[in-house]
Amino acid sequence: MKEQQKESKKQFMESLSIEINNCKKCDLWKTRNKPLVGDGSINAEILVIGESPGYYEDLQGKAFVGEAGKILDNLLGLVNLKRKGIYITNVLKCHPPRNHNPNRQEIDSCIGYLYKQIDIIKPKIILTLGKFASKEIFDKFNLDFTRISELRGRVFEAETNFGKMKIIPLYHPAVACYHNEMIGELKKDFEKLGLLMKN
Ligand code: URA
Ligand code: SF4
Repeated sequence: MKEQQKESKKQFMESLSIEINNCKKCDLWKTRNKPLVGDGSINAEILVIGESPGYYEDLQGKAFVGEAGKILDNLLGLVNLKRKGIYITNVLKCHPPRNHNPNRQEIDSCIGYLYKQIDIIKPKIILTLGKFASKEIFDKFNLDFTRISELRGRVFEAETNFGKMKIIPLYHPAVACYHNEMIGELKKDFEKLGLLMKN
């Protein structure tokens, strides 16, 4: 990628970040500490999309710094990926109190930021973590969302205004915090990602 291109990506993301930090489009601004814009490299080929910042993410404004983050790091390690080699963000940029599921109004208010991030980053692969992120991304790219248990680990193709992109829905790593046996399922899906990255 040309230096000039990298510089303009950086500028777009910085102005988006200012917008998000001042955003009051849904009620979550009232209870948030720090919005979580996203972390990692905006020049990465892989974009990881979670649901919403949790308690610790809200305190730090950083993605996946809690328990689910440890699981995510282990999974990324399986395919030799580091945080610096990907970009991570969420459907909602502000923490929903008591981690409530994102509601329609919150998603509709916030999703435009994610779409802009996709346009800036222009990833080759999007990993969607859990049903909320998967459904929103499937809808956006005209794919038919059914159930995460049916779709997870499968590779879907989408046409974008910057070319072809792959989408892989995955279980949310937080499920492995509550259900230990799920870690094996997540590992299986990450191994598929590893194969895809080699090809
Ligand atoms: N869970 C998410 O979906 N996103 C985070 O950033 C942290 C936990
Ligand atoms: Fe704005 Fe999104 Fe935060 Fe709602 S969740 S206040 S839309 S940045």
